Parts: sequence; C-alpha cells; structure tokens
Amino acid sequence: MRIVLLGAPGAGKGTIAKLLSDFDGSVQISTGDILRNAVKAKTKLGLEAQGYMERGELVPDRLIMDIMEARLQEPDCAKGYLLDGFPRTIPQAEELKKLLTKLNMKLDAVINIDVPKEVILDRLTTRRTCSNPDCQEIYNIKSKPPSPDGKCLKCGSPAVQRADETVEAITKRLETYNEKTAPLIDFYAKEGLLKTIASLSSDEIVSQIKEAVK
Ligand code: AP5
Repeated sequence: MRIVLLGAPGAGKGTIAKLLSDFDGSVQISTGDILRNAVKAKTKLGLEAQGYMERGELVPDRLIMDIMEARLQEPDCAKGYLLDGFPRTIPQAEELKKLLTKLNMKLDAVINIDVPKEVILDRLTTRRTCSNPDCQEIYNIKSKPPSPDGKCLKCGSPAVQRADETVEAITKRLETYNEKTAPLIDFYAKEGLLKTIASLSSDEIVSQIKEAVK
C-alpha cells in the first residue's frame, strides 16, 4: 500500500506504520527517524537539522524534499510505502504531488489519526524509543513497556527518551503541528484521499486502514 500517515506528534503514526509494514511488507519511511539517524551520525544533514529538531521546529522543506526525492526511488519502495511524518507542510504536499506524478505513482489514501490532546501529552511523556538506529522500536512505559531494565525487547539496546521530549519541545511541536501540518487535512480532503480515524486502539486503526485501501 502507498499511504501518508497524518497526525499530531504522539498520535501513533510510527506505531501504526510498523504494524502495517509487518502486515504487507510496505516500507515505513519516517522523516523523523531519517533525521535522528543523521543527527546521531553527525552528517551534514544532521548538523543542519539538529537545532530545529531540539527546539520542536520543522526542518526546512528543501532538506526534506531532497531526502524524499531520493528515498522514494529506492528499490524497496516498489513494495509500497508508509509515509510517517511527511508531508508536514502545504509546500511539501505540493512538491510530493509533483514528485509522484513524475515517478508515475499514486497514493492509495491519506490517513489522519485523530487523538485527543490530553492523550497525546500523556503518550509523549511516557514514550521510550530503541536507541539502535536499525531498530528504533517504539515503547511506552504504560502501554508497551521495554524490559524491566529499560532495554529493547527486539534487539537489547537501551530504550531511551528522545531529545525532543522535553515539555518545552513537546509544547512547541504541538503548536507547529497546529499551524503548519493541520492544514494538510483540508488539502487532502480536497484531493479526495483523506480518511480520518478517531480511535485509541492501534488494532482498530490498522483494520480501518486495511479496509480503506482494499
Ligand atoms: P517525528 O519523528 O516525525 O515526530 P512527530 O511527528 O512529532 O511524531 P512522533 O514520532 O513524536 O509521534 P508518532 O505519531 O509517530 O507516535 P508514536 O507511534 O511514537 O519528527 C520529529 C522532528 O523531526 C520534527 O519535530 C521536525 O523537527 C523533524 N521533521 C520530521 N519530519 C519532518 C518534515 N516532513 N518536515 C520538517 N521537519 C520534519 O506513539 C507515541 C507514543 O504513544 C508511544 O509511546 C507509543 O507506544 C504510544 N502509543 C501509540 N499508539 C498507542 C495506542 N493505540 N495506545 C496506547 N499507546 C499508544
């Protein structure tokens, strides 16, 4: 399947992308994970992106489009892809539309995961993420805990809090979402691609997505 996962920080985009990827082999493409790996590896991209990310701001569209233009042409995308955290602004959505036309590809759907703000805040302060760049399994100390000594259950690396999980950065990320990303809901409704799912259950969200792309 080829879908975009929209939703506020902490709505569960990464969690749902991993479940869908296990289901049919579509590849999860998380711009957040790509950027965090670049920051960790101290690449040119990482050095440019780091400050924006730690403040909870968006990285410039130009950097993101360079990443995505190359990524969508990699061979594993032939199986389908789950865009997690991209597009994030109207200019990114417009550029994606042009890019998909150029690559002769079509999206099946844009899924808007709609979760109340109080749930989001709780999830973001209790999330833990595997620190191994090749794994990045997502945990939650309440709903899906790592091992008792804080290790990833898949690969054994420490499960840690992200650098943008301070109260200040979370607040800024939510503001940025409302200002820059929420307008994509109307954009994709006009394109006839939008499906909003207001459920707190990952299993329910996954089954509604499977139904939507049938
Ligand atoms: P990114 O990594 O994309 O972060 P985000 O959008 O803020 O989303 P999150 O990863 O925080 O949340 P999520 O929705 O994936 O939720 P998760 O599944 O983890 O981006 C980070 C930064 O990179 C941005 O701020 C920006 O600077 C930059 N960036 C990235 N893309 C960009 C772009 N396109 N343009 C410009 N800049 C960009 O779930 C959250 C928690 O809830 C977890 O603990 C999980 O276990 C738990 N949970 C999930 N679902 C459930 C459930 N059903 N029940 C109970 N718990 C659940």
